[in-house]
Amino acid sequence: MRLDKYLAQMQVGTRSEVKDLIKKGAVSVNDEPVKKADCKIEENTDKVCVYGKELIFQKFFYYMLHKPAGVVTATQDNCDKTVMDFLVDAPGKDMFPVGRLDKDTEGLLLITNDGELAHNLLSPKKHVEKTYYVVCTGTLQEDTLSRLENGVDIGEDTVTLPAKAVLCEQAEGSYTILLTITEGKFHQVKRMIHAVGGEVTYLKRISFGPLVLDETLEKGRFRALTKEEQEALLQKV
Ligand code: URA
Repeated sequence: MRLDKYLAQMQVGTRSEVKDLIKKGAVSVNDEPVKKADCKIEENTDKVCVYGKELIFQKFFYYMLHKPAGVVTATQDNCDKTVMDFLVDAPGKDMFPVGRLDKDTEGLLLITNDGELAHNLLSPKKHVEKTYYVVCTGTLQEDTLSRLENGVDIGEDTVTLPAKAVLCEQAEGSYTILLTITEGKFHQVKRMIHAVGGEVTYLKRISFGPLVLDETLEKGRFRALTKEEQEALLQKV
């Protein structure tokens, strides 16, 4: 990898900032000062120092994105903006979203390049909890919440797994709930609400496993997971 690219990925600075550092002689590779930004390094074995301090290569990156409505959860799309377009300058190679939120769904999306973690988090065997804030049209019947909790028929071979449904607000012809599910079937929340006679008008994911959406993150903004969040996530799987 090029030295300037490596330094930018290691969050030492932007590509132009790290080029200046290299020119200044602040960077050494294997204890030799290097003044060429395009010098090739082997990131797993070379010792790279900035002002004498060694950088430790980070292979995996973990970000929390507050997905807005109107963008698709994909790495590429010919028509629509994707969730990855918000992370163009973020360090990390081969990043991808873990799981999928619909185009009109907002909220917490984990973006990483840790394939094994993603695989585990999405495995149906792991029953990772996902909590959604769901605004619905329809009438809340006495048994609506218990039906959602006990399992509803959404047209699959079996009914949905046990869930948690908590009422937040109720008005004439509409209601808002927090719904926690442990599966990730296609359009699952919308289909569950449909199965109890309602329709979802707004959907936002507020937690994913041990991660809780950071409400200080505006829609379309992301941040690296904290060390504690990363550890909680890695412990979960
Ligand atoms: N369930 C849905 O119906 N849509 C989502 O985006 C996520 C869960």
